[in-house]
Amino acid sequence: MSIEYIADRNLFHIKTLNSSYIFRVRKEYVLEHLYYGKRIDALRGIEHLSDENYFGATLHAIDAELAEEKLSTGRMCVEYPFYGSVDMRQPAFHAVYNDGSRVTKMFYVAHKIFPGKPTLDGLPATYASEDEAQTLEITMFDSMTGLKLVYRYTAFEALDVVTRSVTAVNTGKFGINIKKIMSCSVDFDSSDYDFIHLHGEAWRECEIERKPLVSGEIRINSARGASSHLHSPFFALAQKNTTEDNGEVYGFSLVYSGNFELGAEVDSLKNTRAYMGINSFDFNWLLDSGESFTTPEAVMVYSKSGLGAMSRSFHNLYRNNLARGKYKNSIRPILINNWEATYFDFNEEKILDLASKAKELGIELLVLDDGWFGKRNDDKTSLGDWYTNSNKLPDGIDSLAKKVTDIGIKFGLWFEPEMVSPDSDLYRKHPDWCLHIDGRAKSMGRNQLILDLSRQEVCDYIVSAVSDVLKCGNISYIKWDMNRNFTEIGSAVLAPERQSEVAHRYMLGLYGILERIKTGFPDVLMEGCASGGGRFDAGMMHYFDQFWTSDNSDATDRVKIQYGTSLVMPNLFMGAHVSAVPNHQTGRTVPFETRGLVAMCGQFGYELDITKTSEIEVEEIKKQIQLYKKIRTIVQLGDLHRIKSPFDGENTVVEFVSKDKKSVCLFCFTRMCQVQYNSDKVKLEGLMPNSVYKCEDEEYSTDFLENFGFDIQKFNDHSGKLFLFELI
Ligand code: DGJ
Repeated sequence: MSIEYIADRNLFHIKTLNSSYIFRVRKEYVLEHLYYGKRIDALRGIEHLSDENYFGATLHAIDAELAEEKLSTGRMCVEYPFYGSVDMRQPAFHAVYNDGSRVTKMFYVAHKIFPGKPTLDGLPATYASEDEAQTLEITMFDSMTGLKLVYRYTAFEALDVVTRSVTAVNTGKFGINIKKIMSCSVDFDSSDYDFIHLHGEAWRECEIERKPLVSGEIRINSARGASSHLHSPFFALAQKNTTEDNGEVYGFSLVYSGNFELGAEVDSLKNTRAYMGINSFDFNWLLDSGESFTTPEAVMVYSKSGLGAMSRSFHNLYRNNLARGKYKNSIRPILINNWEATYFDFNEEKILDLASKAKELGIELLVLDDGWFGKRNDDKTSLGDWYTNSNKLPDGIDSLAKKVTDIGIKFGLWFEPEMVSPDSDLYRKHPDWCLHIDGRAKSMGRNQLILDLSRQEVCDYIVSAVSDVLKCGNISYIKWDMNRNFTEIGSAVLAPERQSEVAHRYMLGLYGILERIKTGFPDVLMEGCASGGGRFDAGMMHYFDQFWTSDNSDATDRVKIQYGTSLVMPNLFMGAHVSAVPNHQTGRTVPFETRGLVAMCGQFGYELDITKTSEIEVEEIKKQIQLYKKIRTIVQLGDLHRIKSPFDGENTVVEFVSKDKKSVCLFCFTRMCQVQYNSDKVKLEGLMPNSVYKCEDEEYSTDFLENFGFDIQKFNDHSGKLFLFELI
């Protein structure tokens, strides 16, 4: 049993292999959080943790319900804090009631524990069989307002994962305006942690930032409509001495793709409150009588063995219990995308030339990117008009898809269905279908506007427009792009009091569209993209089989981007392509071999004009493809160990170990060669104990590789090397 209710102590103990999460009903109105950390089985003593927590400081109020014990929820660890009473820290829940009051008090009513995990209506979420997980639901109620809250906790015992979400139900007579409803809030009785998160920009995604918690608050958010390039919906609290393979760390990841907030508040007593959920800025949800609202899911991972183990828990959970469909846990095809090869300048002949050459080289899929539809010859027109650009492709997209398929490789197609160009038939027909505020000018991003996916008819249009193209049957893959931030967020049809719901309703609309397309076309492999990695998040991973990690295809920059992304996201989902030099984003020239090896750390492909490459490069491409076909199962489905970080020095080393531990890929990259350092040894991890591996005809014991280390030797600037180890 991974979830236990100890009745005589009113205590809930959520156990995973290595962690315990414990709270209790202290009073029916106070759910006191007691502990989250390394697993403890003998609980004697735990109730005394907070007994003396009120020291009579005059400024601190005492909760009416706790007066006898002289306790204050303002000073204790609280399971799910509300605004309005004595707890002055960031609340997880804040609402305005019919009488104008903003005080929320919830009273424990009941709980149930059951095997498996329920789905979250309309939202992406992890899923589990009855053997894999157990769920606890706690019902809280306030008879004064009629508000019911259900807290949901699921323990994935083997993965050290606890997921959480909250459902609000209005059983009262009057509407309730929810202003803030976090997916999770966790109080720690210490502030001795580092805060780790991923920030960046387009072309510079997922830089790792690690800084100590400070008094007051660290708050990260997106109000851009998507999770965004700027901050990932992920953070970790790590002990000061935590490294890749040692020390405690708590990882938090939100299964959501829209506006979010997360943070950690250190109070005057040096307690820390960590939280995560939909961004409360510009959010208001009117919950009418009888309605319910469910938050996105927060995933919490505990690791006692450093950041590496935390990431592997996320990777295993997301590959096995979040991703779905035919391509779940299956290797991805090697693709060529024509974007950096041709941009908008292509015709049928050019695409067929690329396809023939790709087939000859061993590439398995050709993706036709932007520019095949409407009158699209640049980025100023035609989004929304999802029918063939007959000037470029006079025989139509169906015919091209068939011709490419007849060549013997699969065909994929780019869409940006959430957008509309003002210069499009769709916009001329439905000018009010975009997000906008009547009477205000519409801000442009890449010359385009955003369709209002809070409207069902707009969602239906997108599903039918995309489906009509896919119905030809020869399209095996779609790349679903999204290229601008939200502005003037308003819907033409929603009531004024519901306008602050638009951003979240948009996400619900989008999830609904993706669900219909995924189930309608189960054989189609789906790639997500948002100017690169602008929406590479756990929410989207429920629908997309892979992502375009960044529009920056420079191999040296990609080492960092892919390394940072791997903190949460499995490499199986990271699209990574070999592109031309000088690189189109950085102007840098990196050797072909290095470009190949960097791309092999993810979902491998090409993004250059292979009809114009030299004979030597053609031979190199053939060799790269052969090599990747040999190793892709290890990279895509194995365990990642990050050995040396590009954020700490000039060398980066990442290791992939097959699940059976028989094969190991050790990728080594050097940014700038450092001379006169005698430190080229790296210690491998995760090998089969007491065994021997062979690499380049030499034999090495596990003991030697893991403890003494393997000499990777010196490389030149911007170089890469792959060492393959096989168990003998
Ligand atoms: C942005 C994407 O990130 C690129 O890969 C490419 O698909 C362009 N959009 C096309 O407009």
